[in-house]
Amino acid sequence: MELEAAIRTRRSEHRLIEPAPSDEEFVDLLGWAATAPDHGHLRPWRWILVRGDSRTALGVSFASGATDAETVRREMRKPLRAPLLATLVFVPRRNHRVPDWEQLAASSAMVNSLMLLLHDRGFGSIWRTGSPVDSAETRTLLGLAPHEGLIGWLYIGSPDPTRRSVLRSPVPVSHRVSRFTPEGFPGQPGPLRPSGHQRVSDTL
Ligand SMILES: Cc1cc2nc3c(=O)[nH]c(=O)nc-3n(C[C@H](O)[C@H](O)[C@H](O)COP(=O)(O)O)c2cc1C
Repeated sequence: MELEAAIRTRRSEHRLIEPAPSDEEFVDLLGWAATAPDHGHLRPWRWILVRGDSRTALGVSFASGATDAETVRREMRKPLRAPLLATLVFVPRRNHRVPDWEQLAASSAMVNSLMLLLHDRGFGSIWRTGSPVDSAETRTLLGLAPHEGLIGWLYIGSPDPTRRSVLRSPVPVSHRVSRFTPEGFPGQPGPLRPSGHQRVSDTL
């Protein structure tokens, strides 16, 4: 698949079934994903892969804060929505010349590359967070150190063909783009199209 086609056709898949990539294939793809821009090449992350019955233990921790039976049931079922839950742990290098926010940006860039690579191999994924990322029970279960951040899970598997995410055609999204010149902003201050309802390609 060409890169542009991969970008155009990737969608977060909410319903994922077997097969998921093996641990080895995941690590292989991660090696490529980690070529995303990463100031200082710090690779400030680690992954914890959760599959099979281990997802049940994760579900119990998701439900730990719930007060009613219905919420408990719903939270416990969440990790069962995909065969592989790849837990993304942010491990910032503290007191480094590369600030935390740049390390987080590098981690996010890596995830986007990984999702595209998974898509290219025919797998589906969705990045999920929610209240479990702040849950003491979940952090303890997964053995996180105090300085580590739980920044979500990539739910990974094969898209369920009966419940695939809708492939929307590209939407003309409004982006705020200004052209700066030595004279300042030509025309009036602000974006090229103050109303901002043009695509970038329409404005530059
Ligand atoms: C950091 C981050 C956290 C997210 N957490 C959730 C989540 O908890 N639940 C959810 O349904 N979508 C979540 N999303 C959004 C989906 O992953 C997805 O990007 C969104 O539904 C748009 O779908 P698309 O990727 O097909 O455009 C999150 C996205 C990001 C970047």
